[in-house]
Amino acid sequence: MQTGYRRPARILHWLLAVIIIAMLPVGGIMVTEGLDRATQNLLFILHKNTGVVILVLMLVRLAYRAMNPPAPLPNSMPGWQKQAAGVTHILLYVMVFFMAITGYIRVTMGGFPIEGLGAIGLHPLLPRNEAVAEIAKTLHFYGRFVLIAVLALHIAAALHHALILRDGVFGRIWPFWRA
Ligand code: HEM
Repeated sequence: MQTGYRRPARILHWLLAVIIIAMLPVGGIMVTEGLDRATQNLLFILHKNTGVVILVLMLVRLAYRAMNPPAPLPNSMPGWQKQAAGVTHILLYVMVFFMAITGYIRVTMGGFPIEGLGAIGLHPLLPRNEAVAEIAKTLHFYGRFVLIAVLALHIAAALHHALILRDGVFGRIWPFWRA
């Protein structure tokens, strides 16, 4: 019987976890003053294009989830914890989309390229507008703190299940061996 997430959902979860967590320091480092130009350009290209990959993978993940809903959480978990998990998961989706979309707006409306999309002939979906680009930049800057807070909560709860409760909840998403 299916007790957790299916394999494609588990793989997408860990792939996105690694990429999204890496985006936070890369984004912070690339805007540091005094960074040499070549490194800054490289990090910007990496950050912008990986951000678009995140957006696409998140849409794939949502579609897969809608077609293959995960098995319900075990009855041993109190109701409030199930609700807290549900709210945290929704907030994670919202904040990742928020970061990816504000990043996209900041870049395209600011008149900058997204090299990967350009290479496959996809032009910016939005017109140039410096004022909106500045708002998106500010939202992208502050959104990171909300994302970090929600991620911290999510990771703390996951470790609590894996290391202390050992109730099988972590094993629902862990792809390598039964936890
Ligand atoms: C989950 C996705 C993303 C995360 C977690 C993320 C995170 C960050 C962080 C932490 C910063 C540093 C903010 C600062 O100190 O100013 C940053 C900056 C930036 N990000 Fe992202 N980002 C994401 C997606 C994107 C996407 C999709 C794009 C564009 C296609 C993008 C473009 C930028 C740009 C241009 C900056 C520099 C802002 C500026 O100062 O002009 N980001 N990002």
